[in-house]
Amino acid sequence: MKIAIQLVCLLGSLLLLGRVAGDPRSKTVDLKCATQPEHNTTIFVPNFVAAMDSISEQIQRSGFGMAVNGSGPDTNYGLAQCYGDLSLLDCVLCYAEARTVLPQCFPYNGGRIFLDGCFMRSANYSFFEEYKGHEDKAVCNSTSRKDSTFKELVRKAVTRAVASAPNNRGYARAQEKVSGIGNQSVYVLADCWRSLNASLCRACLENASASILNCLPWSEGRALNTGCFMRYSDRDFLNKELGNSRSRETIIVIVVSVVSSVVVIAIGIVIGARIWKHRYIQKKRRGSNDAEKLVKTLNDSNLNFKYSTLEKATGSFDNDNKLGQGGFGTVYKGVLHDGREIAVKRLFFNNRHRAADFYNEVNIISSVEHKNLVRLLGCSCSGPESLLVYEFMPNKSLDRFIFDSTKGKALNWEKRCEIIIGTVEGLVYLHENSKNRIIHRDIKASNILLDSRLRAKIADFGLARSFQEDKSHISTAIAGTLGYMAPEYLAHGQLTEKVDVYSFGVLVLEIVTGRQNNTSKTSEYTDSIVIIVS
Ligand SMILES: *[C@@H]1O[C@H](CO)[C@@H](O)[C@H](O)[C@H]1NC(C)=O
Ligand SMILES: *[C@@H]1O[C@H](CO)[C@@H](O)[C@H](O)[C@H]1NC(C)=O
Ligand SMILES: *[C@@H]1O[C@H](CO)[C@@H](O)[C@H](O)[C@H]1NC(C)=O
Ligand SMILES: *[C@@H]1O[C@H](CO)[C@@H](O)[C@H](O)[C@H]1NC(C)=O
Ligand SMILES: *[C@@H]1O[C@H](CO)[C@@H](O)[C@H](O)[C@H]1NC(C)=O
Ligand SMILES: *[C@@H]1O[C@H](CO)[C@@H](O)[C@H](O)[C@H]1NC(C)=O
Ligand SMILES: *[C@@H]1O[C@H](CO)[C@@H](O)[C@H](O)[C@H]1NC(C)=O
Repeated sequence: MKIAIQLVCLLGSLLLLGRVAGDPRSKTVDLKCATQPEHNTTIFVPNFVAAMDSISEQIQRSGFGMAVNGSGPDTNYGLAQCYGDLSLLDCVLCYAEARTVLPQCFPYNGGRIFLDGCFMRSANYSFFEEYKGHEDKAVCNSTSRKDSTFKELVRKAVTRAVASAPNNRGYARAQEKVSGIGNQSVYVLADCWRSLNASLCRACLENASASILNCLPWSEGRALNTGCFMRYSDRDFLNKELGNSRSRETIIVIVVSVVSSVVVIAIGIVIGARIWKHRYIQKKRRGSNDAEKLVKTLNDSNLNFKYSTLEKATGSFDNDNKLGQGGFGTVYKGVLHDGREIAVKRLFFNNRHRAADFYNEVNIISSVEHKNLVRLLGCSCSGPESLLVYEFMPNKSLDRFIFDSTKGKALNWEKRCEIIIGTVEGLVYLHENSKNRIIHRDIKASNILLDSRLRAKIADFGLARSFQEDKSHISTAIAGTLGYMAPEYLAHGQLTEKVDVYSFGVLVLEIVTGRQNNTSKTSEYTDSIVIIVS
């Protein structure tokens, strides 16, 4: 019975996603980090996280947020804004992406990120009334050159947008077209941060429009200014007027046979497993911070790898040994002196004073053993940066197969089915494992690795939990990958095992169809696979 309920839940979530069918335009256009490092990590990180949390709440209500937290040189000033044509749901999606990417600036004390749907900035001083600066620039897309008619249209539309935005809460859209032989259209979006008054907004847009017009005769240009964003294009990138988006909230009926077959497969797999209990992970796992004790534990432990050993094994993290980029760091292939092959993950975030906690976490994760989970062999927890050591998977990740028509042939239906079953078994083990329940939070094709016999092994589990629970850690409160994240998680941050079930559902659709769900990395104009199916 529970199984049936869970399947209904899964389908229900798929339906719910129909509501966010607008385009969040969550592709990063530009990320620019501050040039000064933070002053004191212990103070900076909690300030940053608190400011981001406060902005999160505001964004969900109004599409704009501003916050200040802390005092002294590590005070955090934050601002985020979605452009005026995004619905609130799309806005949350875009902001989630901005918030995931911006912390890459750490340990620098701030940064600004322009996405195509929203903007976010953080600094240690009040920049709310800044509207120009030497970072201001235009980014032109020089893939196609247009004629003089187009140039004229762009000038008209841009002028109109600049004139109307300042008195319209900083937001304007404009469209110009000629029909007939030329038959061309121009679309313009202009947006000032709502912290600016009308005259500063106008000043910003005037500068932005002057610099964007330098992109002509190219078909598209974006101005990335300190106080505003502007874009023109020959393609209609704007979302429908907000009034219309409500009609999307009607229930969409799933009739596609792919889904039915997924359900059949899923039932087959799930039988026998008593899974998906509604429970949050609330494990207390505070270890001793006693440094001496830690050093002793580390030296005695066979989990511990010397930093120099790993540095040597990977050829000093040579680019040629780079296997890929994971959620928490870059992964390199390494060969130990005894010939064993390993994968070494170099973590983005290095809080060395948290070495004890980190070590405890590694200890827990490495004790989780299952044939469908990538084995964590150990770490270098006390060296200059934090490294994790995993078993090496010669066939790399599933996404390299299913989204590649040539390599995809290596996976027949039987193999694909085996991979789906293997993934479920690994997930059930993570959720059910009585000692340490683990919600993965980032199930996706690139996190399913394949061993030499193409058996599925889930990678990257456990870390999200460790970063999530420690509020002082800079890793984002919302982790995961757009397109795979459950709607209720995105909207309310509710974290249960169902988050993994949803992502798994998306993954199954991908494995069956060979189509990649839209993520922030792919073209902004593709539809989510979930929407295509529904
Ligand atoms: C950072 O701030 C904490 C808390 O105020 C303090 O204990 C620590 O000594 C500071 N560290 C440095 C390097 O100043
Ligand atoms: C900073 O955030 C913390 C935690 O949310 C809060 O308790 C504190 O009041 C905030 N400080 C300021 C100056 O807003
Ligand atoms: C911002 O941080 C830098 C480097 O930590 C520091 O020198 C500067 O004084 C800080 N600015 C403010 C306004 O506190
Ligand atoms: C530039 O334009 C081309 C075609 O118009 C489009 O495919 C591409 O995605 C655009 N690039 C950016 C960064 O928008
Ligand atoms: C011009 O656009 C209209 C509709 O936007 C279309 O029906 C027509 O075929 C186009 N004409 C040319 C020459 O492209
Ligand atoms: C807008 O803000 C600037 C800077 O705070 C101020 O100098 C200016 O007088 C303001 N303009 C209006 C119209 O309020
Ligand atoms: C826009 O402002 C920036 C920074 O103040 C300045 O360097 C640039 O020349 C201005 N561009 C135009 C076209 O006015």
